[in-house]
Amino acid sequence: MKKRRRRFFGFIILCAIMVIGYSIINKGESTTIPPKQAAGESNTGQSGGEVSGELGSNPVVPGDGEDAGKGSGAANGSKDEPNQPTAPGQAGQMEDGRTVIAQPESISVLVNKQNKLPENYSPADLVYPDVRFVFKEKVEKRMMRKEAAEALERLFKAAEDDGVLLAGVSAYRAHSTQKSLFERYAKRDGEEKALTYSAFPGTSEHETGLAIDVSGSDGKCAAADCFGDTKEALWLEKHAHEYGFIIRYLKGKESITGYQYEPWHLRYVGTDIAAELAAGGETLEEYFGAVPVVK
Ligand code: DAL
Ligand code: ZN
Repeated sequence: MKKRRRRFFGFIILCAIMVIGYSIINKGESTTIPPKQAAGESNTGQSGGEVSGELGSNPVVPGDGEDAGKGSGAANGSKDEPNQPTAPGQAGQMEDGRTVIAQPESISVLVNKQNKLPENYSPADLVYPDVRFVFKEKVEKRMMRKEAAEALERLFKAAEDDGVLLAGVSAYRAHSTQKSLFERYAKRDGEEKALTYSAFPGTSEHETGLAIDVSGSDGKCAAADCFGDTKEALWLEKHAHEYGFIIRYLKGKESITGYQYEPWHLRYVGTDIAAELAAGGETLEEYFGAVPVVK
């Protein structure tokens, strides 16, 4: 009887051990996420976060305004690089094979042979910069947009402090002025030749109020090749960017800008872009990754 009872209890204990063991194994499995599902969840979380993080960190959309600058958006022939700046308002309508700029008032606007200003554009904030010009009259070509005019005053003052006397030659031009100027040059030299030094109406930076041609105070070499060898030109090459200006049509970059070297043509873009372009010896086209402008 005792033997039977021992066997019975032994059997019960064995059963208990099996039941407990099974339940422990089963519990472990229920907390383990199947590998496939686990990978799926973590991938979704990670890649979704990275993608939206990258896009989200870009506060700029094409046409968002100049300063729009450093977005990752690429427009208008831009290279697909993460830090490629976007030319402001460049995604406009096409007209005569050119893009009509949607934000012509942007300080960093890219105006060139492929990107034209709207027909009726005229800057809203033109003023007369308080600097020396090679003429006395208060006329259109003495004007610039306010921000550019104030920067120009600082630039002329700094040059003078260094013993370099600059003078304005030609700043703002209305569309109609650029039209008659270009037509005069085209008549004299033929359109093809004229296009190497004068912009087709609607594609001149002078129409933005952000550009100015300068010379030395004696007016010699005004808008002429010999200006490149003057101490004024050398000073500008070294210092213009400190005041937000770039020498827009560089030597050796003619196939990119589409224009001959113009050491006298300054374009205001603001100090950040100007410093970057000066440091890299780049054109505005290169900065915005725009397709090279063929002559
Ligand atoms: N000389 C420059 C290209 C202009 O006409 O705007
Ligand atoms: Zn010019």
